[in-house]
Amino acid sequence: MKITVIGTGYVGLVTGTCLAEMGNHVVCLDVDAAKIRILEEGGIPIHEPGLLEMVTRNRSAGRLQFTTDIVAAVNHGTLQFIGVGTPPDEDGSADLKYVIEAARNVGRHMTDYKVVIDKSTVPVGTADKVRTAIADELTQRGVSIDFAVVSNPEFLKEGAAVEDFMRPDRIIVGAEDERAILLMRAVYSPFFRSHERLLVMDTRSAEFTKYAANSMLATRISFMNELALLAEKVGADIELVRKGIGSDPRIGYQFLYPGAGYGGSCFPKDVKALIKTGRGSGVELQVLQAVEAANERQKHVLVDKIVARFGEDLSGRELALWGLSFKPNTDDMREAPSRVIIAELARRGAKLRAYDPVAMPEARRVLEGVSGLSFVDSPAAALAGADALVIITEWKEFKSPDFDTIKAQLKQPVIVDGRNLYEPQLMDTLGIEYHGIGRSSALANRR
Ligand SMILES: NC(=O)c1ccc[n+]([C@@H]2O[C@H](COP(=O)([O-])OP(=O)(O)OC[C@H]3O[C@@H](n4cnc5c(N)ncnc54)[C@H](O)[C@@H]3O)[C@@H](O)[C@H]2O)c1
Repeated sequence: MKITVIGTGYVGLVTGTCLAEMGNHVVCLDVDAAKIRILEEGGIPIHEPGLLEMVTRNRSAGRLQFTTDIVAAVNHGTLQFIGVGTPPDEDGSADLKYVIEAARNVGRHMTDYKVVIDKSTVPVGTADKVRTAIADELTQRGVSIDFAVVSNPEFLKEGAAVEDFMRPDRIIVGAEDERAILLMRAVYSPFFRSHERLLVMDTRSAEFTKYAANSMLATRISFMNELALLAEKVGADIELVRKGIGSDPRIGYQFLYPGAGYGGSCFPKDVKALIKTGRGSGVELQVLQAVEAANERQKHVLVDKIVARFGEDLSGRELALWGLSFKPNTDDMREAPSRVIIAELARRGAKLRAYDPVAMPEARRVLEGVSGLSFVDSPAAALAGADALVIITEWKEFKSPDFDTIKAQLKQPVIVDGRNLYEPQLMDTLGIEYHGIGRSSALANRR
């Protein structure tokens, strides 16, 4: 099939590449010429495991091309996937200007039947706006060409995006047009090995499903973070509680990890946008408002622990920071809790030495000018002479470190762990002062 993907970011690039992997002829369009240049020179602009190899393979097979040429891109694909950004507007609602512009471009240049597919996360009712935008353009041109608009929200996780796309749990297709549904079935059927997992519904329900899914996951995280705060106060260990409730099949283990708060390009903006949609429709989404407030508070929990240990004035203190991206296996720094933590620690005068396995170039860009912050090229280099080690992101390489080196390098053996990577009892045995999330008082009580 001939496919165009509009917007070559995390979602667009993974979508285009995985579709090419199945034998489709894919053109990926972006308005960012620098991004397209990197791709044309054989690189990729993001860190995503397995993606570079797949891009390289499909480019050399001639199935995957990158361009900034809007007319050529619109002409190429019968299917036009829109994967542009939908950042929060000032009031928290999703800004649709990139989606509408992408749709208008299709309307301006199409010469035959197109299926325009919203893959970006867009509020309920956007498919109608996309339809209107394209119809407007066709009217202005004085032509009548058939087209369909489909909502096909994306559920990939950064860090496991290729795997998620290649083996989807389900594909949501919001469509009312039979021909478009047939084409969507055809394009996705190679991704289902044993049985089809396509859920066809109306466009509004499809759009809503994406927000509902992200909001549910954010709710689980905020709920656990809140319980972790209480666990500390009452002398319980949230990690034991997590296992205790996760073993109930009605609850399950996923997304129950307490930590430094959720971040990234999706949960924060999608929770905000759904709250805004609720308000616009006269429904106060009180649970989600609490989810958001709990998350804002959680981003400060590590700083609170550091202040409780070292005092409000951190001038003269040096801290080693491990992990900067909002989660492991990505270089995405959007809404990363590390940004809040670093700003708060720097404001109190701390000297910060940060290390991240892949997000350092992006972190340098977004944290430029933060006073007292420097970047080092190994976890060990961050430690030398620091007052404490602060763990913000749970990269694999931090999970089994050499604790003797940590003790030898730090001025005093203090670990503030925002991801509960280590066992408090082990830390106690090793003579390391350990502050986890929702578990430190449990240890104190046992002593
Ligand atoms: N990142 C994720 O993990 C993820 C997962 C699921 C859904 N989503 C959703 O997918 C959408 C895209 O997210 P992303 O993280 O890939 O964004 P991104 O910022 O990485 O990429 C968006 C790209 O679109 C390009 N663009 C903007 N306007 C354009 C236009 N008119 N024509 C062509 N290109 C244009 C931008 O230059 C940019 O490269 C968002 O709605 C997001 O909520 C993201």
